Amino acid sequence: MRHLLSAGDLDRDEATLVLDTAAELARVGDRSVKKLPTLRGRTVVNLFYEDSTRTRTSFEVAAKRLSADVVNFSAKGSSVSKGESLKDTALTLQAMGADGVVIRHGASGAPHRLAEWVDGAVLNAGDGTHEHPTQALLDAYTMRERRGRVEGLRVAVVGDVLHSRVARSNVLLLHTLGAETTLVAPPTLMPQSVHTWPCAVSYDLDEVLPKTDVVMMLRVQAERMHAAFFPTAREYSRRYGLDRERLARLPDDAIVMHPGPMVRGMEISADVADSPRSTITEQVTNGVSVRMAVLYLLLGGSAPAIGS
Ligand code: CP
Repeated sequence: MRHLLSAGDLDRDEATLVLDTAAELARVGDRSVKKLPTLRGRTVVNLFYEDSTRTRTSFEVAAKRLSADVVNFSAKGSSVSKGESLKDTALTLQAMGADGVVIRHGASGAPHRLAEWVDGAVLNAGDGTHEHPTQALLDAYTMRERRGRVEGLRVAVVGDVLHSRVARSNVLLLHTLGAETTLVAPPTLMPQSVHTWPCAVSYDLDEVLPKTDVVMMLRVQAERMHAAFFPTAREYSRRYGLDRERLARLPDDAIVMHPGPMVRGMEISADVADSPRSTITEQVTNGVSVRMAVLYLLLGGSAPAIGS
């Protein structure tokens, strides 16, 4: 594998290798000196055209823990504001010797175009409403840590599926790893093409919850909505929000996930987000290990991931 563009590019062995490598690299986070020499001399460029807190900082922490040099580029404040194209920006960064480019872009497919133009590895950190493969990998890692396996888990992905790159990447990866995914959303927030996705579909959250091992709540992406997709925020929460009463419908060992950023009180209540069943902060921690694994596997060559 040269790039990581889609969760669907990974077969079961490749996805398992990423998760196993992440588990090995997670041990570095427990050391007093959280650093390995594995990517010394390599340069990773974080090319972010859209806002990010978790993905950008965790890619930066991951690359630095592997001793790579990191260049953080954000479209705001760059020559993009003078009209420079993605291609010219990418070629400029490549001319400075980027071995890997982590890209987040508002246009679906931008990382695929970038992969045609640059020599280094391209890692998709979220493209439009299309995909977010490292989010799906860190979610699978978190499920495996909390539930001991991914295969056979019943996963409900709930909310604004229409605008969610997290949902699409999770459906693809969870299918590869043998989990059963059900997408739950109002009809207006379900993609028309969903019948071609390898998952079940429901419009009734209360019916799905008792048969669920993992419930993954999605953010309502108001910034991508140019029409009214539901009557009011209150009505949305009443039908599709996860609150304490709905949490009680889940099996006792079910976990609650959210990729962040979350809108407390809209798709998830504050007490559920902060409950022991919630894995939200663990997902962030695991994101560093998973992104270390992906960077190591794409840029590390034959160097061992971790020394003694
Ligand atoms: N989950 C996620 O992609 O968060 P950010 O937008 O903060 O990177």
